[in-house]
Amino acid sequence: MALAHERVFGQRAEAIIYPEASYKAYIETYGCQMNFADSELVAGILQTTGYTFTPSPEEADLILINTCAIREHAEEKIWQRLKYFASIKRQRSHLIVGVLGCMAERLKKKLLEEEPVVDLIAGPDSYRHLPQLIRQVESGTKAIHVLLSREETYADMAPLRLSPHRVSAYISIMRGCNNMCSFCIVPFTRGRERSRPWESIVQEVEGLAKAGYKEITLLGQNVDSYNDRGLRFAQLLSKVAEAAPNVWIRFATSHPKDMLDDVLETISLYPNLTPYIHLPVQAGSDAVLERMNRGYSAEWYIQRIEAIRRYLPEAVISTDIIVGFCGETEADFEETLSLMRTVRFDSVYQFMYSERPGTLAARRYADDVPPQVKQERLERVIALAQAISLERNQAQLNSQQRVLVEKPSRRDPNDLAGRTFSGRAIVVRGAAAFAQPGDILSVNVTGASSATLIGYAASSN
Ligand code: SAH
Ligand code: SF4
Ligand code: F3S
Repeated sequence: MALAHERVFGQRAEAIIYPEASYKAYIETYGCQMNFADSELVAGILQTTGYTFTPSPEEADLILINTCAIREHAEEKIWQRLKYFASIKRQRSHLIVGVLGCMAERLKKKLLEEEPVVDLIAGPDSYRHLPQLIRQVESGTKAIHVLLSREETYADMAPLRLSPHRVSAYISIMRGCNNMCSFCIVPFTRGRERSRPWESIVQEVEGLAKAGYKEITLLGQNVDSYNDRGLRFAQLLSKVAEAAPNVWIRFATSHPKDMLDDVLETISLYPNLTPYIHLPVQAGSDAVLERMNRGYSAEWYIQRIEAIRRYLPEAVISTDIIVGFCGETEADFEETLSLMRTVRFDSVYQFMYSERPGTLAARRYADDVPPQVKQERLERVIALAQAISLERNQAQLNSQQRVLVEKPSRRDPNDLAGRTFSGRAIVVRGAAAFAQPGDILSVNVTGASSATLIGYAASSN
């Protein structure tokens, strides 16, 4: 789900320093942006229970790891981290270790059985019960809550924003997923789709705008099926755009089968709705798409791209691609490459198919593409994607872009990193001398790689 888009990586919660810290919690998050949003919710819940936060697991009294189950590799990382937390616990016997999120939901008590360091397990719909679960562990028994809910949206709960720069924030507008893409574990780990009441979304947006946030990303596994008592996603976008006219509004993820023109038209009507569309295609062959149960053909997908370009000529379009899905032949795979050439994505997030136990694909089809073929196809996708991204970025040379500064650049502390209005990553040279995160700069684009633009500030506004 869009933008930062590093799907599987760990991030430490930033320290929030209190002088007389009582119990200290450490939260580590893996997976999609929705998991990051959930960790902020969990942090909010812990804060009201009296916890403070630390960026080092070594000095924590409570370690929570918010996990992802999307691919096997994502889970392997979590097992390794649990081994490390076990080594900490040997020095700090009172330490409580909890596993949250999608892997907790998928494995349930199996996690307790296989890794004795785990004291607590809570699935994505169980966070309201965390204080109770922690008390249970304190009184000497392991605690587990993995019931999925049809209603829980945490609409009444205030997240504690963990990002160090108060510039961008995520808001979950819905939870769960009613699609059954045959490769995907998410419907099993996050349950049925439900939409958060629009009033509570608008209220949170207003609060963030007042607090000085400049960019808000609305999150859902399939935002196009948002439906709150008949209010659909396009209408929600209008309400959000009007509630925070000076905030750049982004969203993810759109689903090709459900993304209708009304959403595109709405984006074109509001100056603060950004024309960034993440539209996962997964594959270019109709036979593969059919086995994936995605609900659209390659031709339908290309028509959706044409609609995006018609309404939003400046749109930045990204996608997800899975290589080596069950039964994918060389000819099928070449159709994926050919679709990439037709669409010319600004960026592509590519994955090797990883069979997930219990999914439709695991039950129905053989995972029959050999690992080295998957690897080779992945490399071909990367090579083509990079070549196209480079051309797309080069087409921006000599243009002037509005840029929201997000953070210092990793490479050079004199530079600042940010994104253009339509969502392209950009490094603004020398800007640290006069600008800071949260500023919007006018930037002349002077350089381009496949991953980022480079430019110099023309003026600030
Ligand atoms: N809800 C979003 C994305 C959810 S998961 C959507 O429908 O597009 C993010 C991405 O992970 C997916 O788009 C897909 O490309 C990838 N993915 C999901 N399951 C996978 C699996 N079993 N193996 C490899 N990649 C997978
Ligand atoms: Fe998974 Fe498909 Fe739902 Fe996305 S839409 S979360 S890929 S089942
Ligand atoms: Fe997200 Fe991973 Fe769960 S991608 S929804 S954290 S399985």
